Amino acid sequence: MSNALLDPTLLDGLRPRGTGADGGRVPRALLEVDRLERQFDGLKAVDGISFTVAPREVVSIIGPNGSGKTTTLNLVTGTIPPHGGRITLDGVRIDTADAARIAEFGVARTFQNGRAFATLSVADNVEVGMHSTLRASRPFRSLAHLFLLRWVALLGELFIAIIGTPASRRERALIDATVAAEIRRFEDRLGPRRDDPAYSLSYANRRRTEIARALAVRPKLLVLDEPTAGMNPSETAEVLEQLLDLKAEGQAILLVEHKLDLVMSVSDRVIVMDGGRIIAQGRPEVVRHDPVVVEAYLGRRRGLGGSDLL
Ligand SMILES: Nc1ncnc2c1ncn2[C@@H]1O[C@H](COP(=O)(O)OP(=O)(O)O)[C@@H](O)[C@H]1O
Ligand SMILES: [Mg+2]
Repeated sequence: MSNALLDPTLLDGLRPRGTGADGGRVPRALLEVDRLERQFDGLKAVDGISFTVAPREVVSIIGPNGSGKTTTLNLVTGTIPPHGGRITLDGVRIDTADAARIAEFGVARTFQNGRAFATLSVADNVEVGMHSTLRASRPFRSLAHLFLLRWVALLGELFIAIIGTPASRRERALIDATVAAEIRRFEDRLGPRRDDPAYSLSYANRRRTEIARALAVRPKLLVLDEPTAGMNPSETAEVLEQLLDLKAEGQAILLVEHKLDLVMSVSDRVIVMDGGRIIAQGRPEVVRHDPVVVEAYLGRRRGLGGSDLL
């Protein structure tokens, strides 16, 4: 018998999809990004990148300024549409969906420069994030996408808001419990500020509010763009603790972050971008010493303002 007949890879085509060599299930990637592209006036900000995030995995994207990290997150979350490639979440294609639909599919994000509704309280800011998941209070929400039938959805929601139904009251209780739980996550910081408007918060507390809002929808994938930007070392250490807690809870996270100590501590895998492309990816300790990565950073060390990789 030839060796070819014994080659176990030949069996791959015969196995049911999603099962491995031992017949056990191979975990499907939660997020699959395939040859993703985006240009701005001819500049290839994201130039055909492919990567995955598995369930429960924490993946970080690092790279010099302008390398395409934020654009990648904007594409994954539907903030801007791609010009090529495909993105799937849990096997569903999301690259053609808008940001609201992608949020409904289970992707929640925070922004690089922080976004909170200035005049809303901390609790209301957290609650706003849950709007896309409401069902009992917004039974006709699918009609809201249809221009001519939008008023049916609005009248229905108004009726339920005024009269209430048992299901909408249960949903209200669930919302209140979730908001309370998310504020408790940052209890020392946000607990005392629960009813304060966002404009009165410190920068770090606004960012915590934003993370709490993203988590309130119990996202399949949490997308964070430089969550510690503008934070001092002790605030950064606090965020690291919270990220490690989330990781222990099994939360899948796609993180962009400049502070490499944090990246190296929390990530299962690190993706390094430069000029819109992925130049390296792998386990943090391997990527950290990859000569290509060191060169990409050291070559622009002055521009980065430090030798934080080494
Ligand atoms: N909305 C935009 N319009 C034009 N150019 C953009 C826009 N967003 C990003 N870019 C450009 O795309 C490149 C990648 O930017 P970005 O993804 O923000 O990088 P990073 O987050 O890695 O610093 C940069 O050259 C940037 O100037
Ligand atoms: Mg950025």
